[in-house]
Amino acid sequence: MKGNFVYANPTKLYFGDEAQKNLADALKNFGKKVLLIYGGGSIKRNGVYDDVIASLRTAGKEVVELPGVMSNPTVDKLNEGRVVARENNVDFILAVGGGSVIDYAKAVSVAAWYDGDAWERFWVKQEDPQPGERIIPVGAVLTMAGTGSEMNGGSVITNHAANMKIGKVFGEEVFPKFAVLNPVYTFSLPHYQMVAGIFDCMSHIMEQYFSGDDDSTSDYLAEGLMRSVIASSLVAVKDPENYEARSNIMWSSTWALNTLIGEGKTQDWMVHMIGHAIGAYTNATHGMTLSSVSVAYYRHVMKYGLSRFARFARVVWDIPAEGKSEEQLASEGIDALADWIKKIGAASEISSLGVTPEMIDGIADATIIFDAGYKKLTPDEIKEILRHSL
Ligand code: NZQ
Ligand code: ZN
Repeated sequence: MKGNFVYANPTKLYFGDEAQKNLADALKNFGKKVLLIYGGGSIKRNGVYDDVIASLRTAGKEVVELPGVMSNPTVDKLNEGRVVARENNVDFILAVGGGSVIDYAKAVSVAAWYDGDAWERFWVKQEDPQPGERIIPVGAVLTMAGTGSEMNGGSVITNHAANMKIGKVFGEEVFPKFAVLNPVYTFSLPHYQMVAGIFDCMSHIMEQYFSGDDDSTSDYLAEGLMRSVIASSLVAVKDPENYEARSNIMWSSTWALNTLIGEGKTQDWMVHMIGHAIGAYTNATHGMTLSSVSVAYYRHVMKYGLSRFARFARVVWDIPAEGKSEEQLASEGIDALADWIKKIGAASEISSLGVTPEMIDGIADATIIFDAGYKKLTPDEIKEILRHSL
């Protein structure tokens, strides 16, 4: 393992088909006034809302509701939420939903008691809250697996006026205090969203895996998670109510992005940077923005990290290595990824998400470029990858 790191994760997880039975107890550790944040109403249709309200009652809470969090939550919605949190002087935020709702809850948690422009400070300038600043604690009930937001400090906010979608990774103080993970809650997800979440999870693992060249335990953990996600996804797309598959997907998604498999490593994240720029232009579903550019991106950078891509083919996809050059093997691994994307029904083309050739220059300009993958991309290379993904 390279480098020096501190590992701690403050989020307590309650997992399983009876996980919600712990919610009332978990809530008892926090103040009386709870801001209940949720999305467009799926929780009212699938019964999750009723479970949550019953637990809030049992725990003796006073509830203020803040519904209507959209996918890819916006700055305008954030500004609405911070006013509600502040005016009601809430003690705790309970986020019930997918990554968008949980990300949004974290954003409200840090922004509510800050008087200035929160977007500019936390997302554009990437500042952290200072010690002593008031942060409202957050808890989560997860209804969609994929982002890992239930056990991390990530909060992605979109500013449509500026064509920008930016993720801020906050520190431990902003991680959810607890998360309730009931795989059955994900059964009502539309097929498209389930698949998007599966690819998002896979992409988080690949973003951390495709960087560095030392022998690291983190990469072996990543390989195990990828194998589990692939196996479970193939079951879940045919049989969405298969508890074994959906529970594995939920657990893998949490561990894919709760900092564990990135320890001691550099990390790439360029697929996400391109995906976020596509999202800023099209408001497309996050996981699909990733699936539609991944194959072109990995084919483009493969030669700079050949041995890792060959290992990916061999270990993750079980492709026999005998008689093949490293390049051939590596390339077959990316072919296997492309086949899997088609098999599970994730998007393979950005044109299917509303991207037009005229948008490519703007999307490339809006892409934040990191230098920790196998190749630091130039804006021209991003345009080429986008053209290949059309
Ligand atoms: O709004 P509701 O009615 O809840 O419907 C949602 C939404 O339409 C629906 N849904 C969720 N659970 C459901 C359900 N429908 C039926 N039954 C259920 N059980 O699914 C739709 C998508 O939900 P959303 O929360 O938007 O999806 P996801 O979990 O993929 O979150 C996406 C957001 O997370 C950010 C993305 O950029 C995007 O803004 N990310 C956050 C990360 C983090 N915190 O670390 C990392 C990720 O890479 C990602 O960037
Ligand atoms: Zn993601």
